[in-house]
Amino acid sequence: MSEQAPAKRLYIKTYGCQMNVYDSERMADVLAPFGYGVTDDPAGADLVVLNTCHIREKATEKVYSELGQIKRLKEARQAEGLGMTIAVAGCVAQAEGEEIMRRQPAVDLVVGPQAYHQLPELIARAHRARGERLAADFAPDEKFDVLSTDRRPSGVTAFLTVQEGCDKFCTFCVVPYTRGGEWSRPADAIEAEARALAEKGVREVTLLGQNVNAYDGEGGLAGLIRRLAKIPGLDRIRYTTSHPRDMDEALIAAHAEVPQLMPYLHLPVQAGSDRILRAMNRAHTAESYLRVIEKVRAARPDIAISGDFIVGFPGERDSDFEATLQLVREVRYASCFSFKYSRRPGTPAAAMPGQVPEEVKEERLHRLQALLEEQQAAFNAAQVGRTLPVLFEKPGRHPGQLVGRSPYLQSVHVTASDRLLGQIVPVKVESGARNSLSGALLGELETA
Ligand code: SAH
Ligand code: SF4
Ligand code: F3S
Repeated sequence: MSEQAPAKRLYIKTYGCQMNVYDSERMADVLAPFGYGVTDDPAGADLVVLNTCHIREKATEKVYSELGQIKRLKEARQAEGLGMTIAVAGCVAQAEGEEIMRRQPAVDLVVGPQAYHQLPELIARAHRARGERLAADFAPDEKFDVLSTDRRPSGVTAFLTVQEGCDKFCTFCVVPYTRGGEWSRPADAIEAEARALAEKGVREVTLLGQNVNAYDGEGGLAGLIRRLAKIPGLDRIRYTTSHPRDMDEALIAAHAEVPQLMPYLHLPVQAGSDRILRAMNRAHTAESYLRVIEKVRAARPDIAISGDFIVGFPGERDSDFEATLQLVREVRYASCFSFKYSRRPGTPAAAMPGQVPEEVKEERLHRLQALLEEQQAAFNAAQVGRTLPVLFEKPGRHPGQLVGRSPYLQSVHVTASDRLLGQIVPVKVESGARNSLSGALLGELETA
């Protein structure tokens, strides 16, 4: 089958977090045996899948405006006597269900994040124009039973979902409603998938979960990392996203002891004020978060710390926001994501008093981002003069240039031959900008 040109064309657009990136790849895998080959041109697609994100209002609205454009492409194809099936997948699908087809009738089917293994069947039903067009059950175990662990990786790095869902119920967040409760994949299946990836040339895996460090297979996440570190060829392991509450001693020790585990930790804190953290139901304080960071740094002094922040949560006063800035100064982040609080229907915080005016949120975000950018630039500048192992992932924008990643997840631009793609090579860092580093191959320096 793989010898033939695919009969049908599939266009997938992905929004949101890395879990969605993984899911999009798996949707393509599920559809390949049914003759679908991936295209990057929606106008020529027989099947369009929007894999959506519901986390903030803007993310959801983007989906509806994109659907408006896709609908016009569908009409243009229909005018030529061709068809187009439009599927909405992901977290908006889970949260809004049939409402999506009501708001945009051009949509043929809606499939939640735990149900996309049913896509071929749903498509067949939609083509018969009857029966179910909505699949939104919560059964991650069923999904993973159907998905093969033998993937077709597109490069030398890959995402690997090990845990799904969230039971934390932060009061601002839709994830527990769109992804269901916490569930961990069996370690054997994860190892099989990782081995198959390594055999196909993948050198770095990022283990994914909404709360990946809540992974509760045997030995927890630390046990899983130690197991995967034994796979030949798999030189780099990362994981994201973690919750401060689940950062246990074993995982911290792994950072000291497992060379394949990269010195990078994404540990969202959201805010620096305990009053706000309580209202967010975060189950940690600023102090307990700082203690975790201290322990992680004791285990791995050079570790890059990143995080997520929300400004303008209901009831946030100037003094609360100052506490957030103070926490940032103490941590010294390598990189961060920060957002204005977005009111999500159905979450407890949406109904809380003291909603913060837009212009106040805007101003706080601006101040926070200025500080975070300064820290990121300082972290990058501190690498200048060091020699770092860089995994080359793809050609750069300029001819003769490759782009890779440092252990700290920084992009590194280097003049180097394509032969080095997929290799881990020592690079001397020559300069650091806000978002990336540039450097030179050690060999080149010696011969120069
Ligand atoms: N599971 C992860 C992240 C989930 S969503 C965790 O617990 O850290 C990614 C980020 O989006 C969150 O960390 C938070 O900073 C942000 N976010 C979630 N809900 C939001 C909302 N209602 N408004 C603004 N930002 C939000
Ligand atoms: Fe959302 Fe909180 Fe769960 Fe993260 S821990 S996914 S922010 S509810
Ligand atoms: Fe968005 Fe769903 Fe991920 S809401 S952030 S795509 S879990």
